Formats: sequence, structure tokens, C-alpha cells
Amino acid sequence: TMALSSPHSFSLKYLSLGVLVLQTTSLVLTMRYSRTLKEDGPRYLASSAVVSAELLKILVCTLLVFKENNFSVRLLKEGIVNKPVETMKLAIPAGIYTLQNNLLYVALSHLDAATYQVTYQLKILTTALFSVSMLGRRLGFYQWLSLLFLMAGVTLVQWPTESEGDSEQLILSAGSQFVGLMAVLMACVSSGFAGVYFEKILKETKQSVWVRNIQLGLFSVVFGFVGMIVYDGETVRELGMFQGYNTVTCTVVALQALGGLVIAVVIKYADNILKGFATSLSIIVSTLISYFLLEDFNPTGVFFLGAVLVIAATFLYSNERKPAIGSAIKV
Ligand code: C5P
Repeated sequence: TMALSSPHSFSLKYLSLGVLVLQTTSLVLTMRYSRTLKEDGPRYLASSAVVSAELLKILVCTLLVFKENNFSVRLLKEGIVNKPVETMKLAIPAGIYTLQNNLLYVALSHLDAATYQVTYQLKILTTALFSVSMLGRRLGFYQWLSLLFLMAGVTLVQWPTESEGDSEQLILSAGSQFVGLMAVLMACVSSGFAGVYFEKILKETKQSVWVRNIQLGLFSVVFGFVGMIVYDGETVRELGMFQGYNTVTCTVVALQALGGLVIAVVIKYADNILKGFATSLSIIVSTLISYFLLEDFNPTGVFFLGAVLVIAATFLYSNERKPAIGSAIKV
């Protein structure tokens, strides 16, 4: 494919995957930290952070489009205003991503970083199913097998452990786990669908990835804003949209915006499945950090076995059709 034959895109592909590993790891850890940090005054609103991240992403993409076109607005106008139908196509993934981005805050308020990340790997399964049904991609035997391993691994990671503490606390935390788990599972479906939909749009048309990202972001801001008013309207009217923002919040917002940029590049030059591979690598990194630095989480043997299964499954999945990634897409 194009992406593999040109040396420029080749390095872009691996550079973007590497940046994605770092970005995913730091985002998960700072987001979890920001949701558990005890401070005086109100905590920042997750719904507001989602909107801020989208605004920042649009700003950066606009600057990139400007820079690529010698600071003329022509391309922006031609790409966005003059193509309403093309722009409208992005409303669907934007709505879904906005829901998903809010769900992830719910998940990380109830689950530790490692459990969250390993469970979220189920999105590889949903991504595969949507790639088969929407892009006409075909999966080999080992790829289907690896999906089975993946589900087994995720189940092990979620396996309840007899932990210490009184029973009341145990029931409370089990309820909290359940809420977090449901949020992650919904995010998995949403991630698979929206990712494949975006890949289809990027690879079927010629518009630049930054223009596509601006189109996506414009809808996301609108949906995210509506979401914020619906869920946190009262608090926003009382204390403002940026209540409780601190340095950690700004870091989370910046990392999330960076994620949007990197993911778009990865989807263009690699694909959604390699994107899953990068996230698996970041699991190893954040589990190690969570264990050694944050002491936030106490992994059991079952957890390790599950995590190893998930990671092995990811490698098995990515390994099957090494040379022609992306070539199976019928456009
Ligand atoms: O977990 P998953 O890989 O589905 O996460 C995708 C993330 O990337 C979401 O937060 C989504 O809002 C963001 N994204 C983006 N721009 C794109 C594609 C995804 O901001 N073009």
C-alpha cells in the first residue's frame, strides 16, 4: 500500500505509533490521578474537560492547515464550508466519541488505571467486528483465535479477588466496579464503531487528515457542550465552566487533545488494529508505573495471567498479515 511504500509515511507510521504509546500511558495515569486527587474546592467537571480538549484540538489543526497552505483560508473554506455533505458525515463519529470520552471519565472514577486499561482492550474485538462488517476486511484463523484469548484475558483481569476490608466496603466497591465496567464496555463498542467509521472516511476520500479532524472537532464541541449543559448545567451556571481547573486538569486536557491528533495520524498511516497494538504496549508501561510509583494497585497472580493473555493476543492478532496492512480494505 501507499502507506508502506513511501519512506516518509513509513517513518510517520512508526513515529505516530510510538507517540501514541507515550500519550496513552500519560493520559491514563494523569486522568486517574486527577479524578482521585483530594483538594479543597470543587473538582473540575469531566464534561467541561472534554469540550476544552476538543477546542484545543481544533485550534492546533487549524494552525496546521494554515501552515501547510501558506496561511491562506482558502483550503479551510473549500474543505469545510463548501462541502457541507462531507462535513456532515463527521457528525456521527463526533457524537459517538463525545459519549465515549465522557464514559472514560466515569470509568476512571471507579476503576484503577490498570484494570481500566486491560478491560478497554476489548475494543480490539469490537474494532475487528466493525472492520469486517464495514470495511470488508477479512480475518485469518489466528486473528479470530487471538480474539478468544483476548476475551479470556479480560475475564481473568476482572476476576473478583478476596480482598481485605469489611463486607460493607466490599459491596460498595463492587458496585463501583460494576459502574466502571459498564462504562468501559460501552466505550469499547463506541470506540470500535467510531474508529472504523473515521478510517473509512479518511481512506475513501482525499481530504487532509487535519481538515477531517477539524470537521470532527466542530461537531464534538457542539455535542460536548450540550452534554455539559445537560449533566452539569446547574453547577456550570453557579461556578463557571472552568471551575476546579488546575495544572493537572490542564495536563489532562492537553494530553487528550494530543491523543486526538496522534490517533488521526495513526488511523491514516497505519490502521485501527495497529492502534490497538500500541495501546497494549502502553498497558505494560502503565501497569509498571502504577505498581512501582503510585502504589495505587496491587496486582494478583490472576491479574498478571490475564494481562499476559491480553498482550499475547494482541501480538498474535497483529502478526498474521504483516506485509499488506490496509490493502484488504475494499474501497
Ligand atoms: O480509545 P479510542 O482509540 O477509541 O479513543 C479514540 C480517541 O481519539 C477519542 O478520545 C476520540 O475523541 C479521539 N479522536 C480524535 N480525533 C480523531 C479520532 C479519534 O480526537 N480523528
